Formats: sequence, C-alpha cells, structure tokens
Amino acid sequence: MSKTLRGAPVGTLSVMRRDERHRVTLTLNGSERSSLCAPRELLSDFLRHELGATGTHVGCEHGVCGACTVRVDGVAARSCLMLAVQADGRAIDTVEGLAPREGLGDLQEAFRRHHALQCGFCTAGILMSCADYLERMHEPTEAQVRDMLSGHLCRCTGYTPIVAAVLDVAASRARARHVEATTVGETCDA
Ligand code: FES
Ligand code: FES
Repeated sequence: MSKTLRGAPVGTLSVMRRDERHRVTLTLNGSERSSLCAPRELLSDFLRHELGATGTHVGCEHGVCGACTVRVDGVAARSCLMLAVQADGRAIDTVEGLAPREGLGDLQEAFRRHHALQCGFCTAGILMSCADYLERMHEPTEAQVRDMLSGHLCRCTGYTPIVAAVLDVAASRARARHVEATTVGETCDA
C-alpha cells in the first residue's frame, strides 16, 4: 500500500483542500447561524461577508488595532486572529447584539453621553472589549481602564471620553448592585 510522507496509508488522512468550502454553524448574538467558508477564511471576514454582521470592523488584520474584537464564548477576542472554522459550535457576540430590542445598552448610552467616539471605526471593537471587561472588573480604577484600552488603537485618539464612559458605567452598575443588595437585605429582615 502506498504511504504519505508521514507514513500513514493513503486515504486515512483528512486533508482540507484549499478550494473546498466548509460548513460552520455558530450562535451569533443568541441565534443559530450557518454558512460555508473557505478553510483559511478569517472569522472577521466570515462574520461580515457570510453572515452580514458588518458592525465588526477590520483594520490591521494582524491582531494589533482591536477593531475586529468580538466575544467568543463570552471572552473578548480578535476575530482577525481566528479562523472561521475554529468558531464552529461556539457562541459569538458582536456589537449588533449589545443593544436591547429597543434603544441602547448602558455601555452604548454612556459612549453617546460622553461623546466617546469620533469617526467610530474603532468603537465596535472597544465596546466588545468593555462589555467583557466590565463583567469581570466591577469597580476598575482609571489606570486599569486605560490598561484595558491599550489593546485598542483609536486613530481619532479620543481616549479620554472613552475612559470616562467606561468608568461611568462601572459606577452606575455598582450603585445598582448596592441598591439591589440593600433591598434583598431589607426583604430578608422583614
Ligand atoms: S483587524 Fe483585528 S486586530 Fe486589527
Ligand atoms: S473614533 Fe475614530 S478610530 Fe476611534
């Protein structure tokens, strides 16, 4: 029997052909979506071109600018550093999923209130990083927020209002948690 270079019998290896399309099924912002992609297609391109989620922007395409940031199983990740086939079966959240059915989410509303965007090219990626970050870091300092934002490049350089918006959301969520805890405590004491 003829052998491949690695010594395995021909026919036992599954080889992805360059021109072959592969089905990827994932959960996008809570809804199951499925489409075909090329083996080396980036997740960022798959989201934009195959699934129409064009809110995810593409800047550098090599993991530097952060414009393409989405959440993969809840964790912020550069979609230009991931292949679409690697997202098969996973939950992907993009900026389109941030807003409730009507209006804006609190993070988006804070960005609007603080004028935390200029051209807006970097904004979707920054919002997705902040959404993940604020779920893990409840009361960050300004220095910590700036450290988190260092993973994003804003060509308009409007970092100060972005930091203010993130701190504003952190503070208002902390107040809401405090009110909730107080109400629960009073209910238990009654
Ligand atoms: S486009 Fe992905 S990090 Fe710049
Ligand atoms: S608002 Fe223009 S790149 Fe950030």
